[in-house]
Amino acid sequence: MASITLKNISKWFSDNQVIKNIDLNIRDGEFVVFVGPSGCGKSTLLRIISGLEDLDNGSVSIDDIDVTDKIPYDRGISMVFQSYALYPHMNVFDNIGFSLKTSGVKNKILDKRVKEIAKILQLDNLLHRLPKQLSGGQKQRVAIGRAIIRKPKAFLFDEPLSNLDAALRVEMRLEISKLHKELGVTTIYVTHDQVEAMTLADKIVVLNEGKIIQIGSPFELYNYPENLFVAQFIGTPKMNILECNQKEGYIYLNKNKKTNIKTKKENVFKIGVRPDNIEICKPVKNILNGNIKFCEYLGSEQYVYIDCKLKNKLIVVKLDPKIKIVLNEKVGLKFNSSYLHFFSENDVRIN
Ligand SMILES: Nc1ncnc2c1ncn2[C@@H]1O[C@H](COP(=O)(O)OP(=O)(O)OP(=O)(O)O)[C@@H](O)[C@H]1O
Ligand SMILES: [Mg+2]
Repeated sequence: MASITLKNISKWFSDNQVIKNIDLNIRDGEFVVFVGPSGCGKSTLLRIISGLEDLDNGSVSIDDIDVTDKIPYDRGISMVFQSYALYPHMNVFDNIGFSLKTSGVKNKILDKRVKEIAKILQLDNLLHRLPKQLSGGQKQRVAIGRAIIRKPKAFLFDEPLSNLDAALRVEMRLEISKLHKELGVTTIYVTHDQVEAMTLADKIVVLNEGKIIQIGSPFELYNYPENLFVAQFIGTPKMNILECNQKEGYIYLNKNKKTNIKTKKENVFKIGVRPDNIEICKPVKNILNGNIKFCEYLGSEQYVYIDCKLKNKLIVVKLDPKIKIVLNEKVGLKFNSSYLHFFSENDVRIN
């Protein structure tokens, strides 16, 4: 197990700077998730930590030892990729045991270690099979087995579950969580999946355009996003963001639409409200009204999209699935004022 420290890391691909002065401390045993839009630099940062990619500026330390100039093998880190990259001609046993075997470990010890790991990952009955005889989830478990056999100081996962179907993803997500609890190995995990990020992470790092935008626990990021980017990135469906102005303490939308929102905060330019924090009611004067345009029924919940004539923007509201929805019906919207987010002209949170 290990702590990992990144200091002022920058990386260019020719004249394109893809990582911009990143500082990050990861504690021993922590599970850290990197999220951010496609192309923001998540994989590049992971590869820099593993040593697969050189950096142009800054340093990587593991347990306070500078490893910037060390090759991947000497960093004691294992990486698992989205594509499993198993050796096709080797069976499960040999795939898992490969790195130990090449490092010269005696057969008896190799046999014991592979079997221990196969047991943890429930692969003990499949040791003789070739990769082509395995399901996607089984292949992914072999790839994880291969990564943990060397008892790495840290695991790096780059979207390890994105090739799997929905049910397998849930199963593997729980396996990875269980593995982390059992082994306690420092883990960095890249994903596009909100549920994976929220459920696995001790700490989420939100990246955009090569920079860290916010670091926090899932709770902090969801409830206290520091800016509009994080507010809209974390949470599905996205937080509704509405431009506003203030008159006598009340928030107005589109200059003249009064809402039931009262605040003492000043210079509020936008308000954010999650779909779960809006109720619909009969349309009345002096609150926001609109027409229901679409409804997405998901069984355990439903999302309705309401046109309140706000710059072609529809407001999304999460409702009890038992509520009968009539398309084009006019409804009123009540915002739960305890769960509102206020943003400045520069899209920064106002606390
Ligand atoms: N070998 C390379 N040569 C040139 N540019 C590269 C190279 N690898 C990555 N890039 C660029 O660096 C940026 C960051 O890429 P990276 O793969 O780290 O993004 P990512 O956040 O992992 O994206 P995704 O979510 O799509 O996997 C992108 O603009 C990408 O085009
Ligand atoms: Mg990537």
